[in-house]
Amino acid sequence: MDVGAMADEVWPSIEDSVRAAVSGAHFTGGAAVETFEQEWASYCEIPYAVGVANGTDALHLALRALGVGHGDEVVVPASTFVATAEAVVLAGGVPRFADVDPETLLMTVDTMAAAVTTRTVGVIAVHLYGQTPDMDAMESAVRNRGLFLVEDAAQAHGARWNGRPAGAFGDAACFSFYPGKNLGAFGDAGAVVTTDGDLAERIRSLANHGRAAGNHHSHLMVGTTSRLDSLQALVLSAKLARLPAWTEARQKVVAQYRADLTDVAGIRLLKEHPLAHHVYHLFVVRVPDRERFGADLLRHGVQSGVHYARAVHQQPAFVPFADAPLAEAEKGAAEVLSLPLYPHLGMEQVGRVIEVVQLLLDERGANDRAVG
Ligand SMILES: Cc1ncc(COP(=O)(O)O)c(C=O)c1O
Repeated sequence: MDVGAMADEVWPSIEDSVRAAVSGAHFTGGAAVETFEQEWASYCEIPYAVGVANGTDALHLALRALGVGHGDEVVVPASTFVATAEAVVLAGGVPRFADVDPETLLMTVDTMAAAVTTRTVGVIAVHLYGQTPDMDAMESAVRNRGLFLVEDAAQAHGARWNGRPAGAFGDAACFSFYPGKNLGAFGDAGAVVTTDGDLAERIRSLANHGRAAGNHHSHLMVGTTSRLDSLQALVLSAKLARLPAWTEARQKVVAQYRADLTDVAGIRLLKEHPLAHHVYHLFVVRVPDRERFGADLLRHGVQSGVHYARAVHQQPAFVPFADAPLAEAEKGAAEVLSLPLYPHLGMEQVGRVIEVVQLLLDERGANDRAVG
């Protein structure tokens, strides 16, 4: 992950405004935050954006603003980062884990439906690795059950389904701007986008100690502090101008991976739906004996990652919420491996990664034949 190259690219364009913000002591709120919120809403093609401190808060506050309270169940996919389920518990709710499609590792309408009970109040669809599930089907399945729908778009800045942007399907979509994300701050940051102005105001209030709009001294709800810092907003505005080019760079890298690694024995690529506009936060493949494969890659100088080593319901903190094995999420977690992917990755380096992967797969194939 070359977060430094993205930072270097934007730094000259923000140096002066960061200095001005520091000398003017503009550290929280103000014009920089308002500008970024407007720019983010407009990029997402959704009317309202509320900046918050991080992606976990974005989810937690959206759930609270939607009324999640003690004992309310919210369905989440078991293949995601723990924050999706964490937010449900932080809001006072109970996560219900849904299995995923083995081809995409995304929750489907069927796996979602299997997790719904009479206590379920809502569903969080996760746009894992940069790809949304079938959101037309998800939206109608969730609405038909009278539930709310939140999109966890922490890995999906600019993703679309069938031409519609993340955030257009759910009551709200939640983003993380953690430095390693497709759009990342110089620290932690997040945002919620929504088409519902009242919901946006409730989230804004909860993120600001439950204050009444326009009345600093009146606290209507028990809220929290979850501000988007002014300095982070300046960084995010500058990086947002480059996001389309960076997303294209990611797509080019993945096109090469897919061209050379599709239908290669010993490695399985995840399926991409033609209606999904994938923004490739991560390029995840499935390989048996993943730990050894990762170690072999590293021996050849290729750094890989694992997202995520266990399905969330297998994590000790979430075992108390798990009531059944979820076969596909568990099998997926044992096999996933993320190959290098970032906008400044040169095509020569991509070629080298592909060469090493092919070499290791050939070695594995030869060993298997020798044993067989
Ligand atoms: C799918 C998903 N949801 C939520 C989060 C939480 O975001 P943050 O780390 O900004 O709290 C992340 C980020 O790691 C994520 O990948």
